[in-house]
Amino acid sequence: MPRTAFVALGMSVPDRVVTNEDLTKLMETSDAWIQERTGIKERRWVPEGRETENSDLALEATRRALAKAGWEPKDLEAIVYCSMSPDHMLPADGCFLNAKLGLPGVPSIDIRNQCTGFIYGLAVADAWIRIGMYRRILLVGSEIHSTGLDVSTRGRDVSVIFGDGAGAALLEATDEPGRGVLSCHLHADGRFATDLYCEAPGSKFHPRVSAGMIESGAVYPRMEGQKVFKNAVVRMPEVMREALAQNGLSPKDLKLVVPHQANLRISQMVQRSLELRDDQVFNNIQRYGNTTAASIPIALAEAVEERGVARGDLVGLCAFGAGFTWARALIRW
Ligand code: ACO
Repeated sequence: MPRTAFVALGMSVPDRVVTNEDLTKLMETSDAWIQERTGIKERRWVPEGRETENSDLALEATRRALAKAGWEPKDLEAIVYCSMSPDHMLPADGCFLNAKLGLPGVPSIDIRNQCTGFIYGLAVADAWIRIGMYRRILLVGSEIHSTGLDVSTRGRDVSVIFGDGAGAALLEATDEPGRGVLSCHLHADGRFATDLYCEAPGSKFHPRVSAGMIESGAVYPRMEGQKVFKNAVVRMPEVMREALAQNGLSPKDLKLVVPHQANLRISQMVQRSLELRDDQVFNNIQRYGNTTAASIPIALAEAVEERGVARGDLVGLCAFGAGFTWARALIRW
């Protein structure tokens, strides 16, 4: 049975840098509060007054990955598109990317799984490759959060965290012994669904969105921050241990761990819990904030270059987020 190898990665973030200081002009907050609680110094937001599509960020990240691999768009046999902030409610964003890449007939599926989206998407792509359905798949995570945040003081606990960006991975079937995705582990616990959620627009409402919903803030994401935090620091190391044990490995075997970039303090607690060295864990939330489904591929794209990940190295990905959902993947590079 073939395994799934990562061939190349690409990332794309908007040029507009929004510093913590910039946010103090919009809401009651401070650079010190944001850095101390989250580690974030700045994030990228799409420019105001000009429409930027989520699928444009995904396209740019994909082009960069294709250039690194020396592939053409026509080499792609399927698209797995992970996002919780699509261009439109209908149709799936993978279809817009399909058109922008000029790939009529190539299947596209959207995965709407928030912070664990990229790992859930990887599990789907990996399954397709293992059963021989496709040999070359584009897996992309892309988010534009900034257009959907309450940037007043009312929404400050959420809005200071999120950034925009996209990351793309080119996946290919490999028969090389020991190489590729070793396993993916996925979990969800819907009892916590409303602890991090956006109430409206929703199909249960008539109409689905109203001026009252905008005014009351029901259209903005709301979060029980401490509950999310407490669950994340337990679930992320737990799922990591589960994956390592199943593969007969230990944290010492990991060259690199790329945690979902939710909060620097969460990553640091995961690192401590697994007794990992600094050089085994990669974080870039300081520069990009939390880009949800894009955070792992953006961090992985930078980490692979900066840390010199080479063939045979063991790489771990782990994430926790809305749902609650949590997930993990182990890859032999
Ligand atoms: N600036 C200044 N003060 C603030 C801000 C802000 N941006 N936001 C909240 N505060 C205030 C609060 O009002 C509160 O004030 P009070 O004590 O007078 O009531 C005080 O700061 C403390 O608030 P807490 O919510 O207790 O702060 P906490 O230490 O929990 O940090 C944070 C908040 C950063 C949101 C943290 O809880 C966190 O990171 N949670 C996890 C986030 C996460 O991982 N999300 C998951 C991924 S997202 C996804 O899946 C889509």
